[in-house]
Amino acid sequence: MQFTAVLSRTVRMAWPTDRAEGSGLFDALPPLVDPARSVEWTVQCRGKPDHTGYLVSITPIDAAVRAWASTWHAAIESTECMRSLAAACAAAELPPLAGLSLRVSPQHAYYWDPAMPERLQLQLSFEFAASHRLALPGCSDAENQALFGKCSNPNGHGHNYRLDVTVTPHPSVPNTVATLETVVDREVMSRLDHKHLNLDCPEFADLNPSVEHIALVCRNLLQAPLRTAGLDLVSVTVWETAKTCATVQAAS
Ligand code: NI
Repeated sequence: MQFTAVLSRTVRMAWPTDRAEGSGLFDALPPLVDPARSVEWTVQCRGKPDHTGYLVSITPIDAAVRAWASTWHAAIESTECMRSLAAACAAAELPPLAGLSLRVSPQHAYYWDPAMPERLQLQLSFEFAASHRLALPGCSDAENQALFGKCSNPNGHGHNYRLDVTVTPHPSVPNTVATLETVVDREVMSRLDHKHLNLDCPEFADLNPSVEHIALVCRNLLQAPLRTAGLDLVSVTVWETAKTCATVQAAS
């Protein structure tokens, strides 16, 4: 049976990899003040699994990433780094790459597509708390209850939303992370965090605050200000629960 699959493997390690550990009498493992951080490299390979059912064993992926990491001493949040890791994966004769990513914190990851080797996408995650009531303007309470059930309870209910914003940085922007945080804080957090979306936010005056619509509003609030700040928006994802999210791509 021939079919194409993408196999993803994440390799977690301390970074930088060459720090001294536990050499002195008072050293602690982990150190109380740790200059290193944990990072996660994810390698995605695409191809046709063979008769074993494997596209590729995870062992050579782990070995290739760890061997490469021991030799890379330049910045890791760069296209040069991703191209170098891609070359190492090719040299290790792994199947063709579908993508690489680097997670440097739970809120902060980079994505690289071999089809666009000069572009490195940055994704930052934010959180905001808000209440809402799902209801269509012009419908009666009974009609809204029939459409949305308990999500249309008249006094509303709350969520802790997660907002993932993915951008393509521009080399002219010196600190992409700080710039993105500033714009998201000003354009989204100041408007939506700790608010009742239906009652407090004019963006939802005539718009049912579903997770799809919240993602759309965030996209619309962010795209132009990010462009002004030198960042191209790729997409916005809003998570309403750990199991439910909506993504809206940047407008073309
Ligand atoms: Ni809800």
